[in-house]
Amino acid sequence: MDFKIQVAEPKDLRHAAVDALLLVVGEGTAPQSLGKGLGTALEQALKHGDLAYKGGRTLYLQDVSGVKAPRVVFVAAASSTAKAFRSAVGAGLALLKGGGARQLLVASLLPQPLDESHAQALPAAVGDALYVYRHTKPSAPAASKLQRVSLACGASDAAALRAGLERGEAMAAGVALARECANRPGNHCTPSFLADEARRLGKGHDLEVQVLGRKEVEKLGMGCLLAVAQGSEQPLKFIVLQYHGAPKSSAPLVLVGKGITFDTGGISIKPAAEMDEMKFDMGGAASVLGTFRAVAQLKPKLNLVGLIPACENMPGGRAVKPGDVVTSLSGQTVEILNTDAEGRLILCDALTYAERFKPAAVVDIATLTGACVIALGHHRSGLFSPDDALAAELQQAGEAALDPCWRMPLDEEYDDGLKSNFADMGNVGPRAGGAITAAMFLKRYAGKYPWAHLDIAGTAWKSGAAKGATGRPVPLLTQFVLGRAR
Ligand code: BES
Ligand code: MN
Ligand code: ZN
Repeated sequence: MDFKIQVAEPKDLRHAAVDALLLVVGEGTAPQSLGKGLGTALEQALKHGDLAYKGGRTLYLQDVSGVKAPRVVFVAAASSTAKAFRSAVGAGLALLKGGGARQLLVASLLPQPLDESHAQALPAAVGDALYVYRHTKPSAPAASKLQRVSLACGASDAAALRAGLERGEAMAAGVALARECANRPGNHCTPSFLADEARRLGKGHDLEVQVLGRKEVEKLGMGCLLAVAQGSEQPLKFIVLQYHGAPKSSAPLVLVGKGITFDTGGISIKPAAEMDEMKFDMGGAASVLGTFRAVAQLKPKLNLVGLIPACENMPGGRAVKPGDVVTSLSGQTVEILNTDAEGRLILCDALTYAERFKPAAVVDIATLTGACVIALGHHRSGLFSPDDALAAELQQAGEAALDPCWRMPLDEEYDDGLKSNFADMGNVGPRAGGAITAAMFLKRYAGKYPWAHLDIAGTAWKSGAAKGATGRPVPLLTQFVLGRAR
């Protein structure tokens, strides 16, 4: 998809040489500003009740007299925010995506001018509307014919909007990559597949990619990662990506993504219902790959490291058992009381490994707990950090990228639940506050640098009829990384 800025005043839209117009209207839109033809069409539609300035209402018109574009879609936005703009564009695209239009011009007729955040939201809306998973579904609907989407604006806004559009385009490419990886079934998306995807990304974009296998991980002493992986026939991979955008002396940001390519629960096996969705348990890993995709395109001036511990969580004769005690890379021992709390086990060794990069900050991203879904539902990811400044930075990045999160507590009282009589800690606490004890477990391994944890169990994918990966939190992470660039 090609995204462009097009300088055009409202009254010029009727002359635009595209095959579809998507016009965002709302409270305060004066039909007359569109000139004859378009303006009259809007006025009539409002008068006859075929359109109203109510968020989400749409109207599709063909061959409006005096208008060059053969298709015109009016869509009402609930307000002038970037978020409302994104949903309005999404509603308009739903009418256009299956049709014959190849070049689309999007324009806002809201009284408040568009800014960078609206431009950034446009590729996100287009990506979401047009994405179709087809890798294992040959009968999936044909790809949309849309090839170019332009955003109309006044001459003085063009530079700022272009910058927003470029950022949004890179984020959308990252989101698409993350969705594509996470949607693959567990028999396709294995740890080896994730490693190959990382290598492919590295080749295409000049990233350094290194993949450690079982032998190397054994030698390092990642006993927790090894324990989770040992029940599976699929070889584990520990993937290290590096983007160099600043001198070596500049401390990097490190992103750590949970890469469980399928979570059966292991010996503490999960119930059958919806277990298929545990193919999405590598959503954190996918979001790290997606963020690298976006960053590689935008080339910010900073260093970035990605760490992806990847394996399957399977039961079997070699699988780890409840009560087994293992030694983490940090030297701390863990009693694995529940083999289904495997995410924290693979992450803790990666968090210790991160120390070698002397990071400016480390953010881990994981589909970690069902409890986080109970706490926050599917709208906001859970944000945990003992560092107020880092937490605020991530929270704001989420708001700006329309990929929101919400901070949760990490009081030391929650740590009590991790006590064990047989090891330095158990890997589970009580059911109550389960998302927090999981974060408290990670905190024990993240003491040597500023650290934050994102629990994306509720936001990385959708269930039900729209089942599929969302690509979140690639926008949040990319926004955060860009904000750190010099
Ligand atoms: N991958 C799951 C978390 C999960 C469950 C995400 C359901 C989304 C939906 C994780 O590995 C897990 O199984 N967590 C357990 C932890 C428990 C055993 C302490 C959970 O949340 O039930
Ligand atoms: Mn689990
Ligand atoms: Zn899991």
